Amino acid sequence: MQQVNFGIIGLGTVGSGVFDALKLNGDLLSSRIGVRVQIGRIAVRSIKKCSSKIPRNLLTENWRELIDDQKIQIIAELVGGTTIAREIVLAALKAGKPVITANKALISAHGEELFAAAKKFGTNLYYEASVCGGIPIIKSLREGFVGNRINALYGIVNGTCNYILTRMKLEGADFAGVLADAQRLGYAETPPDLDIDGHDAAHKIGILASLAHGFWVNPKKIHVEGIRHVSALDIKFAGELGYTIKLLGIVKKCSSACRVQVSVYPTLIPNSHVLASVNYAFNAVFVHGDVVGDSLFYGRGAGKDPTASAVLSDIADAALDLKFSNKHRIPPFVPHECEGAVLPIEEVVSQYFVRLNVADKPGTLAKIAAIFGQSNIGISSVIQPEGHEGKSVPLIFMLHYATNGAVQNALKKIGKLPVVKGKPVMLRVENFEK
Ligand code: HSE
Repeated sequence: MQQVNFGIIGLGTVGSGVFDALKLNGDLLSSRIGVRVQIGRIAVRSIKKCSSKIPRNLLTENWRELIDDQKIQIIAELVGGTTIAREIVLAALKAGKPVITANKALISAHGEELFAAAKKFGTNLYYEASVCGGIPIIKSLREGFVGNRINALYGIVNGTCNYILTRMKLEGADFAGVLADAQRLGYAETPPDLDIDGHDAAHKIGILASLAHGFWVNPKKIHVEGIRHVSALDIKFAGELGYTIKLLGIVKKCSSACRVQVSVYPTLIPNSHVLASVNYAFNAVFVHGDVVGDSLFYGRGAGKDPTASAVLSDIADAALDLKFSNKHRIPPFVPHECEGAVLPIEEVVSQYFVRLNVADKPGTLAKIAAIFGQSNIGISSVIQPEGHEGKSVPLIFMLHYATNGAVQNALKKIGKLPVVKGKPVMLRVENFEK
């Protein structure tokens, strides 16, 4: 059997997961693809700190040795970050070696440059592990759905936020306590701001949007809101209305040609929708293709083993490139929609949940409803809970379809009314209507 040697650069959680998974299933993988896959070298920051189970003869502290070593045919960049990681990936591609990365921040920020380099040097860059760990969503979009236009894609792609929102809903737990648990369990990034402010999800959703729509999505164009401002009250009222709040990545084709909504924000989704049942640290991606219809992918989005599983699948692809040449395969990213662009959030149309804290006196509702009316925004329902105490009361509106720009403007005016106390809370509602 032909043998392929690959080099691992970075032996943190993901790198050691790959080492263990290959020990467990390396023979199985090799017999399935007809190529013996072997670890040739491993570059680490400090050999002294490396676990004793790693054979010393494999180790080096100089990653460039792996790039220059003719016997190392594939490079797995597992160091993280966007500086040295970019240098490693570019150097390996330049050497004509297929590269594997688990690095979503790198792909999100530099994908366009890196895929262009892969093309220039006649090799491939694989990145299955960069989005949703164990869920093979990249390969599914690239190969399984190659004959579909992706009209809509909705993703619960951040385990930390999903874990926090699930426990807030099911246990009435408070945000800070649950975040500490998520950190202890190893779901959250360090610092956790990347997770809870939505940026980790935006990296992943931008990559999926680029792949689905064939133009590279500039991460700066993605509208991102995290979950810091989601309160127990919002979760409670959303529940009373039949909704669950999830941090949802949305990639949706708009009616205007080549414009795509790409956003991440806490969203009310109907309890009856399958994504509402995706709980704790699990991830899920719901895809609507014009030929296939609805599909759901569910699994673990992070952690040593699910991520290692994705890296192994990329190793298999890279090894097959070497066996058969990569000319016969669908490249990992092919630009094909050159006119494509992200629709600015102000122009995105959705439904809304608005929670206000208002003075409990006659005329309050009329003043607020008048502003929505003047802004041409329809109200679909209103709740004011009975049995409240004190001088102010929560007032919840569900709004019909309107642009984000129109709703933001109306809320600015409403926020200035003397009867409205504090800043209006606005969350979007996704009813998955086609
Ligand atoms: N911190 C991420 C999450 C995992 O919570 O989903 C890695 O992307």
